[in-house]
Amino acid sequence: MNEAIKQLNIADLARMRAAGEKIACLTAYDASFALIEDRAGVDVILIGDSLGMVIHGGSTTTPVTVSDIVYHSKCVAPHLKRAYLVADLPFLSYATLDRALDASQRLMQEGAAKMVKLEGGREQANIVEYLAVRGVPVCAHLGLQPQFIHKMGTFKVQGREDAAAEAMLHDAKVLAEAGADLLLLECIPAALGARITAESPVPVIGIGAGLQVDGQILVLQDVLGISPQVTLGRTPRFVKNYLADAKASGERAGLIEAAIGAYVREVKSGAYPAPEHCF
Ligand code: KIV
Repeated sequence: MNEAIKQLNIADLARMRAAGEKIACLTAYDASFALIEDRAGVDVILIGDSLGMVIHGGSTTTPVTVSDIVYHSKCVAPHLKRAYLVADLPFLSYATLDRALDASQRLMQEGAAKMVKLEGGREQANIVEYLAVRGVPVCAHLGLQPQFIHKMGTFKVQGREDAAAEAMLHDAKVLAEAGADLLLLECIPAALGARITAESPVPVIGIGAGLQVDGQILVLQDVLGISPQVTLGRTPRFVKNYLADAKASGERAGLIEAAIGAYVREVKSGAYPAPEHCF
């Protein structure tokens, strides 16, 4: 007899971390992929503001609006039987407490997201706390923060120097104390990812943050090798093309589902990320 499929919740993510089960996360933006990812066993689906790049074709995430995220969340949410849905608060949508609350309300009420994600370190602690005490679960995104591209100039690995690494470790603690339920680390040395995870009271998801974190996330189009970055020959180091692997293995029917299933299995087994995907 088939076991009933249960929708994952925030406690399940904490339970997975405690049990040492890696959390497999992936972005999605539409119903077709939502169904496939959910069936393939993706635990957490993110409506990422990366949609500004992989769906809209922009060079940054800056133009993405709350309405864009709500629209794509509405496309995805009704099709998830099991996966936990997180949605990005886009650029400047959390610049003040009121704006953060309004935007989160839209993502959760209209978009049916279970958690919102915002970028930034300790300077966002008051926003995280303001949302958390009002029942909004928050994922705090540290390391490379694409919404700060116009302050940084280029996308590059963060936390390489000792002082920057210590500052990030401190940011992670402050954000968790402020009420963040999940941390996301992007493009940092694997050793720093491991340290932050070891000291974090909440699950830590990595993208280019090494293997010793509690879970991994990638952008869907990168996993399939079809994002504009990949097509234009600018594949980030942490990306692995699972569709190419599925084709090479002679997979025919359900190629995309097989590729996403392989990603989930490799995250769960620890086969991904391999050393060549790490900094
Ligand atoms: O916007 C996004 O898709 C993200 C992931 C890359 C983590 O923030």
